[in-house]
Amino acid sequence: MKIIRTVPELSGWRAAVPSTERVAFVPTMGFLHAGHLSLLHDARRRVPSGAGSLVLSIFVNPTQFGPGEDLDAYPRNEAQDFELAESAGVDVVFTPSDPDEMYPSAQTWVNVEGLSSTLCGESRPGHFQGVCTVVTKLWMLVRPDVAVFGEKDYQQLAILRRMHADLFLGGELASMPIVREDDGLAMSSRNANLSPSARADALRLPGFRSEVLRRFGAGARDVTVLLAGATAALAPGVVDYVQAVDASSLQPVDHVVAPTLVAFAVRYGGVRLIDNVVLSP
Ligand code: PAJ
Repeated sequence: MKIIRTVPELSGWRAAVPSTERVAFVPTMGFLHAGHLSLLHDARRRVPSGAGSLVLSIFVNPTQFGPGEDLDAYPRNEAQDFELAESAGVDVVFTPSDPDEMYPSAQTWVNVEGLSSTLCGESRPGHFQGVCTVVTKLWMLVRPDVAVFGEKDYQQLAILRRMHADLFLGGELASMPIVREDDGLAMSSRNANLSPSARADALRLPGFRSEVLRRFGAGARDVTVLLAGATAALAPGVVDYVQAVDASSLQPVDHVVAPTLVAFAVRYGGVRLIDNVVLSP
């Protein structure tokens, strides 16, 4: 497994890939878990060893964190990430030695309007601009035939799909379902920052998500009915948002008449967790 820490080295590596070989790509912020590994396994299936290369990027991208957010507390473990990457069949890890490597200036930004205006776009101003900018830069450098993203970050995925089409980035953008712990909590690098009591309380999030699905299965279509009692059910978590939006436009809806995303962002012990479910009538 090759470790690359600079942009010129990555560009040099990419230029030397024969045109007969394919490149698969999984961008991450590291502290890898089974959610990331499912993306790597899917990418490896799409581009088997022998047919081309699997590239993993690990970069805690500062521009997608707002002031007062958890950039400094974001969990990191490079040695463990390299071990997991190797066992997932990664050929190349790109992990910039310094943020300046990715941001020679901080003057050029990529923004997707509309889809970025709700949910996390509302509660984390500037977040998706940081995500879109870094993914564009990585995409231009790696020039993947296919890149794989997770459905846990549903809004991020929707925005990146729009950006990928609008900027003619080339290659294919694929996605994989949410991977959960045995007890239902969605895997996240941030779970490592939960205290044992906050980790226990955080189960209310998948618990209420299941309750919404149960109500939907029982015939509820009115969003006030589907989401009734959310604040109490999620306590002692502090709700950032619990919202039902059209699964394509991400604009709020009152009734489920078309595929609807119910998205959750809740803080447990100060750690912000997200989860979601798509209701398809
Ligand atoms: P990160 O949170 O490290 O996630 C990297 C990829 O793993 C994303 O596509 C995310 O949706 C996916 N992922 C995370 N947890 C998952 C889970 N439980 N099940 C399935 N997939 C999961 O998302 C980012 O990093 C960054 O914003 C990034 C796109 C790398 C840009 O900096």
